Amino acid sequence: MFTTVIGGIASQGLAKKIAKRLKAKYLNSEIKVFPDGECKITIYGKPRGRIIVVQSTYPPVDSNLIQALALISKAREYSSKIIAVIPYFGYARQDREFLPGEIVTMKMVAKLFKAVEASKIVIVDVHSKIALKHFKIPVENISAVSELARYFRKLQLKNPLVVSPDFGGISRSREFAKLLNTDYTALVKRRDRKTGNVEIKSSNLRNASGRDVIIVDDMISTGGSIIKAAEFLKKQNCGRIFVACTHALLINNAEKKIRQSGVSKIISTNTIPSKTAVVDSSEIIVKAIS
Ligand code: R5P
Repeated sequence: MFTTVIGGIASQGLAKKIAKRLKAKYLNSEIKVFPDGECKITIYGKPRGRIIVVQSTYPPVDSNLIQALALISKAREYSSKIIAVIPYFGYARQDREFLPGEIVTMKMVAKLFKAVEASKIVIVDVHSKIALKHFKIPVENISAVSELARYFRKLQLKNPLVVSPDFGGISRSREFAKLLNTDYTALVKRRDRKTGNVEIKSSNLRNASGRDVIIVDDMISTGGSIIKAAEFLKKQNCGRIFVACTHALLINNAEKKIRQSGVSKIISTNTIPSKTAVVDSSEIIVKAIS
C-alpha cells in the first residue's frame, strides 16, 4: 500500500526513521510562529495513499497537540486512512478526576482526535491504560520495554536488580527483569496530589546491597520520583544506579539533578528527542502500523 509519512516538528527524526522502514514517501512540516503565539503550519509536497502523521505532544504540549490535530485534519483532505502516531501522548496523566472539580482533559483530547477524523492512534507506553478508554476510535498502545531491555542486555551488568519507583509500574519492571533474566521489586511511592511532592515509603530492601540497580519507569518529568528512588536505593548500599524510561521529558534541569542524586546513566527512547534518547522506537511503531 502506498504510504506517506508526515513528520510534525516535534518528531521529525523519528518520523524519518519510520518512513525509511516503511519505504514510504516522507513529507516535512514547518511552522512559523507569529508574534501573538499563533503558528502557521506548512506541509511541503502532496501526501497520497495511507497517511501516517507522527508528532509527540511533549512540551509545549498544547502547541504540539494543536499541530498534530492540524496535520491530521489536513491529511484527511488527501486520504480516508490516517494513522496518528503520537509516541508520547501528553495529558494522559489527566485521565480521571483525582480531586473534586478537576477536568478529565484526556477525555476532551480524545474527542479532538475523533473530530479531525484520525482512523487510528498509535501511542508508545501511554501513562495510564485508563486514558485509552476515552478514545472512541481504534487506539493501540505499544510497549518500548523490549527495546530498552535490549540496550541494557548489551551492557552486560552482573545480576542487576530491576526496580520500579512505584507499585503502579510493577508489571513493567517484571517484564524488564524477565528479559534480563534477573529479579525485580517495586518501591512504595506516595505523591501529594496538591504539591506534587514525592516520598518513598518502602521499608529496607534485603536484596539491593552491592548490586547494580536499574530503575524502570514510563516517564521522567521533573525527576522527583527517580531522585527519591535513587536516594532510597543508595541507603540500601546498592551498586551503580541506572535509569531506563520510555519518555524523558526532563523538565527544569531534571537530568542534572538526577545525576547529582547518584544516577550513573539515564537511557530513554526517541519518543522525545534528548541527549538520553539513545533507544530507537521506530521498529516497534512500524510493527504496530504495518
Ligand atoms: C508516575 O506514576 C509516573 O510513572 C512517573 O513516575 C512520574 O510521572 C514521573 O514524574 P516526575 O519525574 O515529576 O516524578
